[in-house]
Amino acid sequence: MPDLTLLGLCGSLRRESFNRKLMRAAVERFGPATFVDGNLRLPLLDVDVETEQGIPAQVQELADQIARADAVVIACPEYNKGLSGVMKNALDWVSRTKGNPWRDKPVAIMSAAAGRAGGERSQYSLRLCLNPFRPRVLPGPEVLVGNASEHFDAEGRLTNQRHLDQLDELMGELRKIASARRD
Ligand SMILES: Cc1cc2nc3c(=O)[nH]c(=O)nc-3n(C[C@H](O)[C@H](O)[C@H](O)COP(=O)(O)O)c2cc1C
Repeated sequence: MPDLTLLGLCGSLRRESFNRKLMRAAVERFGPATFVDGNLRLPLLDVDVETEQGIPAQVQELADQIARADAVVIACPEYNKGLSGVMKNALDWVSRTKGNPWRDKPVAIMSAAAGRAGGERSQYSLRLCLNPFRPRVLPGPEVLVGNASEHFDAEGRLTNQRHLDQLDELMGELRKIASARRD
């Protein structure tokens, strides 16, 4: 049977994004898989553009990647106590494509943030924003990397054992659900 396909979405476009580093750690801990790095550098949703020009190619590509993935991992920063605009823009664009690629999709979410709470409110708001599409967002364990700059080494590797253990459990669960859907 071919490898599972794991799609990664990072809600930060920053080159040295801690959320991207966290996402990479999660992908490693998922185990053998074909990894697809989703591109959230999309134009801002403008329904006039959609009406006049249709769905942008990179939005359709993202929707197709979600549809094809066996599982999705999302690492999203907290911006002003909510999910990032980059992430919300992507969710809104994908909602304009045909079908619903999120339906029943196993999804693991996580966050790294400067604040002590590690992006807890970002995750909460992300859950609410995913709800309309009815994916299977794992309820936990919550992976919240607070004071993020203290928890990655010079190579961008996550260093805290508690976070690594939580990631192992979350990604193990994601793998189990994704594999069961294949059977
Ligand atoms: C616009 C903006 C708003 C932010 N709001 C919060 C916040 O509400 N809570 C928090 O913990 N950190 C906040 N931060 C700090 C981010 O957690 C920090 O910049 C983090 O590194 C962003 O994720 P990234 O490294 O993946 O880009 C904010 C940063 C920006 C740029």
